[in-house]
Amino acid sequence: MKKLIVANFKMNQNIEEAKAYFTKFVSLFNGERADVIICPPYISLPLASFFTRGSKIKLGAQNVSDEEQGAFTGEISADMIKAVGGEYVIIGHSERRNKFKESDKLINKKIKTSLKNGLKCILCVGESGLDKNAGKTGEVIRKQLEEDLKGLYENELESVIIAYEPIWAIGTGNNATVKDVEFVAKIIRKVILENFSEKASRDIQLLYGGSLNEKNYQALLSATGIDGGLFGGVSLKVDAFLNIANSVK
Ligand code: PGA
Repeated sequence: MKKLIVANFKMNQNIEEAKAYFTKFVSLFNGERADVIICPPYISLPLASFFTRGSKIKLGAQNVSDEEQGAFTGEISADMIKAVGGEYVIIGHSERRNKFKESDKLINKKIKTSLKNGLKCILCVGESGLDKNAGKTGEVIRKQLEEDLKGLYENELESVIIAYEPIWAIGTGNNATVKDVEFVAKIIRKVILENFSEKASRDIQLLYGGSLNEKNYQALLSATGIDGGLFGGVSLKVDAFLNIANSVK
């Protein structure tokens, strides 16, 4: 099975930088080893869509409104993302949970609105360093999953990917160990089994994210139960990210 490699540009790259990035990435990505989803800022999605047309590269947004349309100044709807070529959206990233105070209830609504409008979701879950040290990783992940996926039908879950992103590992240079990742992958699949079905628990795609780089990605993405990775910082370096996407095993 090909690995799933996702890039989260966060609030980086203006349109000129995105143009240079996509021009190079599209011409050198071989598509042999990985499926790739790139999530640039909203404003670069139309350009990214133009450059990736006809390629195997898929696009996603980094956030979405929980509302479908109306008087919500500054918000972007799922339908708008789809209309410019986005197929995916990252929901529940820890930066949005913590810096923008997004609750599990809001995340649940964003997932439902996105699915209703035909966007696939990349749901991020993860514990803080404090939770980890207190031995609460399993408890925190279970609560997030149960609240974020509440009320979803099993067939809707087919359009959801789950990324385990421990907060203490994001942007810190301290990646989780293979053991940490395997432990959490097991918990996630167990929660899906208990709330949905054995098939859903087997089929759901799980990613790891948090300080992935050219040195550690191969080992971490080979962890049992993991189908790919969510890359932040390193995905901004086009050569490094191309190397990862073209050579992951
Ligand atoms: P990082 O970010 O790779 O820079 O740690 C990952 C993420 O936040 O998705």
